[in-house]
Amino acid sequence: MTQPAAPTGSPYGTLPPASPLPQRRPVSLPRLAQLRAAGEKITMLTAYDATFAAVADAAGVECLLVGDSLGMVCQGLPSTVGVTLETMRYHTESVARGLYRVQGTAWLVADLPFGSYHESPEQALRSATVLMQAGAHMVKLEGGGWTTPTVRFLVERGIPVCAHLGLTPQTVHALGGYRVQGRDDGAAQTLRRQALELQDAGAAMLVLEMVPAALAARLTAELPHCHTIGIGAGQGTAGQVLVMHDMLGINLGKMPKFVRNFMQDAGTVKAAIEAYVRAVKSGEFPDDAVHGW
Ligand code: KIV
Repeated sequence: MTQPAAPTGSPYGTLPPASPLPQRRPVSLPRLAQLRAAGEKITMLTAYDATFAAVADAAGVECLLVGDSLGMVCQGLPSTVGVTLETMRYHTESVARGLYRVQGTAWLVADLPFGSYHESPEQALRSATVLMQAGAHMVKLEGGGWTTPTVRFLVERGIPVCAHLGLTPQTVHALGGYRVQGRDDGAAQTLRRQALELQDAGAAMLVLEMVPAALAARLTAELPHCHTIGIGAGQGTAGQVLVMHDMLGINLGKMPKFVRNFMQDAGTVKAAIEAYVRAVKSGEFPDDAVHGW
């Protein structure tokens, strides 16, 4: 099929010729719900720049996350705490531009960084506006309980929200390190209550990071309107996410145990990402038994 010409007067500047890639349907919230209803796992990877975004999109990843993990991956920071809204805007715009140039179809999620949504729902709306105008389709914020009114406020104003529970890296100092969350009954109950509240507030997606597989599977069953995306949370979630540089084996720092290096048996980055997509869709990745660092 011939590709439509890129619009003129684009905010993205001069565009290269239309992509030779086959046209796929843009991923949307209804499309994600369809995948889930059909029992097909949703795939997500982080992306921080135009090139990797385009490659991941071509490899069939449905959701790209401009994660604030870019603080460690791209900026060499010790944690995500130092990442600013301006940095998130820059990377979100780069990824959105990369997708636009290849007429990519991925659903684009961008992290609201530390301190950009903590003061009030109004502050969160101003920060989310920056990321949505940079090209995001959805914003992600960490934590439960205190974040619920903010999620409701954003959703009521037409901004899709992804929540994030379990290990929430922006609060790593308060949590005492990168460790599995929700292990004991009390912590599991709190996590469950917060997840149900977030769904009720309209969160359409929920990243569950480093929580026991049984808890993640139970939450998934209890959250029909909020797609759970696991990382170190076993197989029972609606989808999976990994940090791209981890699954490509180019993170020279400490690697979480739940990560698999998909580059090892692949000749190209695209082939490695395709292998990840296949492994998630077939249920071959992740391994339920592996959660921690
Ligand atoms: O910032 C990030 O990359 C994330 C993922 C680990 C889910 O939040």
